[in-house]
Amino acid sequence: MPSRAPILITGGAGYIGSHTYVALLEAGFLPVILDNFSRCKPGVLTRLQAITGQPVVCYGGNVSDVVLVQELLRQHKFGAVIHMAGFKSVGESVAHPLSYVENNIGGMTALLRAMETSSCRTLVFSSSATVYGDPPAAPITEDFPRSHTNPYGMTKLACEDLLSAMRAAAPAWRIGVLRYFNPVGAHASGLIGEDPTGTPNNLMPFVAQVAAGQRAYLSVHGVDYDTPDGTGVRDYIHVQDLAQAHVAAVKALLEGEESFTVNVGTGQGHSVLEVTKAFERASGQAIPYRLAPRRPGDVAQYCADCGLAQKLLGWRAKHSLADMCADTWRWQRDNPNGYDA
Ligand code: UD1
Repeated sequence: MPSRAPILITGGAGYIGSHTYVALLEAGFLPVILDNFSRCKPGVLTRLQAITGQPVVCYGGNVSDVVLVQELLRQHKFGAVIHMAGFKSVGESVAHPLSYVENNIGGMTALLRAMETSSCRTLVFSSSATVYGDPPAAPITEDFPRSHTNPYGMTKLACEDLLSAMRAAAPAWRIGVLRYFNPVGAHASGLIGEDPTGTPNNLMPFVAQVAAGQRAYLSVHGVDYDTPDGTGVRDYIHVQDLAQAHVAAVKALLEGEESFTVNVGTGQGHSVLEVTKAFERASGQAIPYRLAPRRPGDVAQYCADCGLAQKLLGWRAKHSLADMCADTWRWQRDNPNGYDA
């Protein structure tokens, strides 16, 4: 498969998709976006064009539209598909479980149906560390037991299981499952980044808005965890490193690597207070915080063992927490309202 292979990114206009788009193009691939813009804004496309200096090939549509995806597969003869189109909010999934099943499992089912009618059997899937439930220890290796504690996690587990069944049924499938830890940061240009709708649920975008003065203070959810400073510890990974992990996964599969499931993190855990302090240093802004009760469903500590990704894909994260904070801050400072349109 030539390095100029066209690659379909479902959900490619989103936070992780847009960074992966740039990384694929820089690696010599021809990325094509399919996105229904339900969770992101079309303004990202102009930014992608500014970064890459090339027109962006993007189709507005739903991955659940089997006929549309079949037509795209026929027209572009993709070497691989990266399936990122999915909902990711735990709280929303608890309130609207059916939407999560329809969108995340339904989208995956439809994509596989469409791919079955094409010659493309190479797929990279965005899974999540959420499949480890409440892990018994850290660092977490890929053979840890899997479980779910909310409908979002259930959909990720179900998709992973469906992909295993597809591989068992037809060995021609080459499937790379990437279990993301906590993606943060933004492109170094400051042109693309995370643009959450409404109040951010996740720590880093919330901290960024406090630093920018858009929110008065951070609520630190839980100070009595069994961690060095009592606050929750996570394995934050720079979105640029995550984008490179997708490039490495696509390359490995196209070069004949068997299917795999790997953790994508840094192997380094950071507490909520460490992140807050690092962001203060990066931004030069004070970040007031208040101690608050634990968030329901949160776990004390998530930290990846990333040895398998390094061994199989030759990939490892390169960016530090300071880089993650500096890049998030540049994006936040330059785009206080995210993408305008
Ligand atoms: C969350 C999801 C996870 C999902 C990921 C997507 C939960 C329980 N988990 O991960 O399934 O894959 O987002 O990106 O929602 N925190 C605060 N104050 C805040 C926000 C967060 O103290 O305002 C703390 C949390 O308690 C946690 C840490 O910051 O200890 C990270 O939280 P967050 O960024 O939401 O990520 P996860 O909970 O790890």
